[in-house]
Amino acid sequence: MTFPLDHLNAATTPFYYYDLHLLDATLQEVREASAYPGFHVHYAVKANSNPEILKRIAASGLGADTVSIGEIHAAVSAGFPAPKIVFAGVGKTDAEIRTAIEIGIGCLNAESEAELDAIEEIAASAGKQAPVALRVNPEIDAHTHHYITTGLAENKFGIAMSMLGKLIDRCVKSEWIDFRGLHFHIGSQITDLTPYKILCERILEIEAQYPDVEFPTLNVGGGLGIDYDDPDAHPIPDFRSYFKLFHDNLPLRPGQQLHFELGRAIVGQCGTLITRVIYVKEGVGKKFIILDGGMTALIRPALYQAHHKIQNLTAAATASVADSDVGTRRGASTATPAASTATPAASTNPMVTYDVVGPICESSDTFGTDERLPETHRGDLIALRSAGAYGEVMSSGYNCRPLPPALFSR
Ligand code: LLP
Repeated sequence: MTFPLDHLNAATTPFYYYDLHLLDATLQEVREASAYPGFHVHYAVKANSNPEILKRIAASGLGADTVSIGEIHAAVSAGFPAPKIVFAGVGKTDAEIRTAIEIGIGCLNAESEAELDAIEEIAASAGKQAPVALRVNPEIDAHTHHYITTGLAENKFGIAMSMLGKLIDRCVKSEWIDFRGLHFHIGSQITDLTPYKILCERILEIEAQYPDVEFPTLNVGGGLGIDYDDPDAHPIPDFRSYFKLFHDNLPLRPGQQLHFELGRAIVGQCGTLITRVIYVKEGVGKKFIILDGGMTALIRPALYQAHHKIQNLTAAATASVADSDVGTRRGASTATPAASTATPAASTNPMVTYDVVGPICESSDTFGTDERLPETHRGDLIALRSAGAYGEVMSSGYNCRPLPPALFSR
C-alpha cells in the first residue's frame, strides 16, 4: 500500500485512512471466489460501519450481518435491501426484534429458548411470521484469542447441541416462525482453515440427525483472518481456499443456501490508523515513541494483545525522495517533500529500537515493545496498519478525546 503523504500531512491526527481501491479489489475477489451455487456473503457490519465503507460494500451486492438495531439502520441507509440483512446477537431487545420483523429483514438468528418465546410473541402481535434460524454452539475450538473465540461450550453464544432437537421442533411447528435453518460462528481471526473443516463435518452430522427437517439455509458465520504481520504481502486474504473448503466439504441439498458472515477479511487491510509522534522520550535503557493516538483510537492491542504493524511514513517518504534525488529533507510536520508518497518498505535512516506508546494514562496503551524502526523524530507520521476492522468502530471518547475521523484514498 502506498500513502499520499501530502494529503495525510495536512490532516489533524489521529485519523483512519482507508484505501478504497484495496477495498474494491477485495470485494471483487470475494465475489469471484464465492461464485458457487447457493453461496451468499453477508458483510459483518460490526467490523466497520463507516457509512462510506458500508455504501461501497452494499453496492458490491453483498448482504449485511448485523447485531443491533443501530447496525440494521446503518445497513438500510447504506443501501442494503432488508431481505439481505440478517440479525444476530445473544441479547436482542423486544424493540429490536419488533423493528427487524416490521422492516422485513432476511433472518433473525435466535440463540436461546427464551429468545424464541420473545420472537413468537412479538411476531404474533405484529401478525407477521418471523424468519428465524437457530444459532448452534458447535463446540469447536478455533484456536484464536480467548476473547474472540465463540464456539466453545463455555462461551455464552448459541444453543447447546443437547437442546437443539427440541428447539428445531418448536420452530418447525410454530405458527409465527418461518424456520430458515442453522447458524454457526466459531470465532474470529482464524488463519488455519482446519476448524472450518471440522465445522462442515459437524453440520453434516446435525443434518443427518434430523433427516426429516428442511434447513433452507446454513450460515457458517465469519472469522477468516488476515495477515497482521505482513499486510503488503497479503493485502487480500486467501478467499479462494476458504470458499473452496466449504464447497468441497459441505455438499448442499437441492435449493439450499450457504451463508457467510465475513467482517475482518473484507475491511481489515484497507484501513490504517495514522498518528503523529509527539515526543521521542529517552527512558532508562529504553527509547519511547509517544504518539498522539492511543488506545482510544485503536483498542485492539490493549484489549487482545494484538499487534498492528508499525511504520514510519515520514522516514519512508524521506528515503524515497532521497532515492530519487529530489533533495528535500524532512522538517517535522510542515516541510513534507513535494507530492511525496510513502511506500513504507525501506528508509535510509539508521534502525533504532523503540517502545511505541499512546498518550493515555494506562500502561496497556502500548502498540509495540522493542520495535525496530528507522530513526524517528517529533512530528513524523506513524502508520498502524491493518486497522480497517474493529478499529474505528471500537474507538472511544475516554479522556474526552475526540473520535478519530476518517479520510479516504482519492
Ligand atoms: N458473525 C458473528 C456471529 C460474529 O460474532 C462475528 C464477529 C462475525 C460474524 C464476523 O467475524 P469476522 O469475520 O470479522 O472475524 N473485536 C474483535 C473481534 C470480535 C469479533 C466478534 N464477532 C477484534 O478486534 O479482533
